[in-house]
Amino acid sequence: MERVLILLTTTVMLFMATGVQAMLSFANNKEVNITRTGCGVTKLCVETPDNCDPTGNSSCLFGSVTAGTPMPPNGVNMSFELSGNSSGYIALGLTLNETMGINMLFICGQNGSDMFFFQAVSKNGTSEMFEVLNRDVMEIRGTVNGDMIQCEFNVPGLNATNTRSFHATTFIVILGHGNVIGGSPGPLRVALTTNPLNLADPASNVNTTSMPPTGGAGRPHLSHAGLLLLSILTLGVLKTV
Ligand SMILES: *[C@@H]1O[C@H](CO)[C@@H](O)[C@H](O)[C@H]1NC(C)=O
Ligand SMILES: *[C@@H]1O[C@H](CO)[C@@H](O)[C@H](O)[C@H]1NC(C)=O
Ligand SMILES: *[C@@H]1O[C@H](CO)[C@@H](O)[C@H](O)[C@H]1NC(C)=O
Ligand SMILES: *[C@@H]1O[C@H](CO)[C@@H](O)[C@H](O)[C@H]1NC(C)=O
Ligand SMILES: *[C@@H]1O[C@H](CO)[C@@H](O)[C@H](O)[C@H]1NC(C)=O
Ligand SMILES: *[C@@H]1O[C@H](CO)[C@@H](O)[C@H](O)[C@H]1NC(C)=O
Ligand SMILES: *[C@@H]1O[C@H](CO)[C@@H](O)[C@H](O)[C@H]1NC(C)=O
Ligand SMILES: *[C@@H]1O[C@H](CO)[C@@H](O)[C@H](O)[C@H]1NC(C)=O
Ligand SMILES: *[C@@H]1O[C@H](CO)[C@@H](O)[C@H](O)[C@H]1NC(C)=O
Repeated sequence: MERVLILLTTTVMLFMATGVQAMLSFANNKEVNITRTGCGVTKLCVETPDNCDPTGNSSCLFGSVTAGTPMPPNGVNMSFELSGNSSGYIALGLTLNETMGINMLFICGQNGSDMFFFQAVSKNGTSEMFEVLNRDVMEIRGTVNGDMIQCEFNVPGLNATNTRSFHATTFIVILGHGNVIGGSPGPLRVALTTNPLNLADPASNVNTTSMPPTGGAGRPHLSHAGLLLLSILTLGVLKTV
C-alpha cells in the first residue's frame, strides 16, 4: 500500500502575506533519488546518524548542499537535497546563530496522506513561530513514499555576510523534523546542528588529507532554460503512482 507522490516544479507560485496563494504547477514523473554519491567531493553532506546513507533508508536524516560560483554582491546560488522519515515534515535550516538570529528553514512535508508540500519559512531564534521567508526557491522536486520524504530545491543568492567574521558561504546547518498540525508545519524538532560550515567547500566537515577542496568543484544545476522563479511557498501535490 505504498503510494509515491511526486511533485515537480516548473511551478510558479505567488504568495502574499495575507496567506492568499496563486499556484500554477504541473507534474512530471522524475522521481527524486538522493544518494551519498559525491559527498565530500562535489557536495557537502550533513546527516544524522553520522555517515548514514539516505538511499532507501528512512532512518537517515540527510541533507546536502552544492554551491555555485559566488556572484558578489548577489550571493551564491545553492542547490539542496533533503531526505528523511516523517509523517509530518523534515527541514533543512541555515543560520548564523541558531538561538539568537533568524533561521531560514526549508521544509518538505506531507499533508494528509502523502500530499507533498514545500515551504520556505523563517523563525527567530528559539521561537516556535514560523514566518514567511521572502526568498525565491526554484526547481522544487519532492517525493513522498510512506513516511519517507525526499526533496530537492535551489536557492539563489544566499549570502551569510551579516558579520565580518563569516565568509559569505559560511552557515550553521540545521536538520530537523516536525508534525503537520491542521495543515501547517508545527514546531521544529532539531535533530542536528552543525558547526559553522563553508557550504562552498564540500569537504568542510570531513577530515581528509587525500582530497583537498578544489575551487569550483560542483556547480548546482541552476541554469536550465525555462526555469521559472518561485516566489515561495506552499506547493500542493502531484501525482499518485
Ligand atoms: C539512484 O541513483 C543512483 C546513482 O546516482 C543509481 O545507481 C540508482 O539506480 C538510482 N536509483 C533509482 C531508484 O533511480
Ligand atoms: C539505515 O541507517 C541506519 C543509521 O545509519 C543504520 O543503522 C541501518 O543499518 C541502515 N539500514 C539499512 C537497511 O541500511
Ligand atoms: C555579500 O554581501 C556583502 C555585503 O552585503 C557584499 O559585500 C558581498 O560582496 C556579498 N558576497 C557575495 C558572494 O555576494
Ligand atoms: C518513521 O516515522 C514514523 C512516524 O513519523 C515512525 O513511526 C517510524 O518509526 C519512523 N521510522 C523510522 C525507520 O525511523
Ligand atoms: C549565538 O549568540 C549568543 C548570544 O549572542 C552567543 O552566546 C552564542 O555563542 C552564539 N552562538 C554561535 C554559534 O555563535
Ligand atoms: C527576534 O527576537 C529578538 C528577541 O526576542 C528581537 O529582539 C528581534 O527584534 C527579533 N527579530 C525579528 C526580525 O523579529
Ligand atoms: C543564480 O541564479 C540566478 C537566478 O536563477 C541566475 O540568474 C544566475 O545566473 C545564477 N548564477 C549562477 C552563477 O549560476
Ligand atoms: C494541507 O491541506 C489543507 C487542506 O487541503 C490545506 O488547507 C493546507 O493549506 C495544506 N497545508 C500545506 C502546508 O500544504
Ligand atoms: C576530525 O578529526 C578530529 C580529531 O582527529 C575529530 O575530533 C573530529 O571528530 C573529526 N571530524 C570529523 C567530521 O570526522
